[in-house]
Amino acid sequence: MTIKAASSGRIATIDAALVEGRIVAAFDPAAIAAKVMDEKKIVVLKSVFPETLLSELRDAVIAWGREIEPAPIDDFRGNYHRRRAMVSRLQQAPHVFHDYNFNAMPDLPASLADKLYGLFEPLRQLYNALTSNDVEFAIPDSGPYPHPQILHYPNGGGFFGRHWHNLVPQRLGFIVVLSEHGRHFTRGATVFDIDGDIVDMEGQQMLGDICIWRYDHHHWVSQSDLGCKFDWNAVDGRWVATFAYFDPAG
Ligand SMILES: [Fe+2]
Repeated sequence: MTIKAASSGRIATIDAALVEGRIVAAFDPAAIAAKVMDEKKIVVLKSVFPETLLSELRDAVIAWGREIEPAPIDDFRGNYHRRRAMVSRLQQAPHVFHDYNFNAMPDLPASLADKLYGLFEPLRQLYNALTSNDVEFAIPDSGPYPHPQILHYPNGGGFFGRHWHNLVPQRLGFIVVLSEHGRHFTRGATVFDIDGDIVDMEGQQMLGDICIWRYDHHHWVSQSDLGCKFDWNAVDGRWVATFAYFDPAG
């Protein structure tokens, strides 16, 4: 297994794999956490999730979204999906994407829940290993909890303007790319501003890779291919999963 510095010098690419439901990487969790938190590198764990797992998950999420009406507001305790074309209230970040939120996975049909756990349970364990935390998929009476989320940036104009998050409690974030660059989408990627260095992940993170980043880097998502016709119902586009750990009352 190898580690190599990508062109920007800010990206550390690390070999990894999913072994019996656990993410195994060439570096131990403390070394990965140090690269992200102390050295402020973007770590990319390569080829963790197999294409079949991701395509079946995508298909199941799309099918579920077609059965359930899009929600007009957020429900941080439930399962819902929402089409967003707006400017965020506090940070004034414009965005166009469709998010699918699974805060109550046990309430979902088992076939969908199983596929979601296949992705998010290994991420939960990785998160705990990297942060020495002990988060669970349960909603506490108070305080932060994980919010498994899948985002669809449709071709033809999906994007997310520059914004940022508090470092605490999340500390580090995950982005997993669920669709294939060059096949499902041709443009659009997360871009980070790390102390003035612009780190564009276009071409640096492929299907199945996990991007790990320090949670207080300013970031945005560059626009998908405007040469395509925009369609909320399209299955193509850039699909990602995130593991957000926050207190909606905080
Ligand atoms: Fe963000």
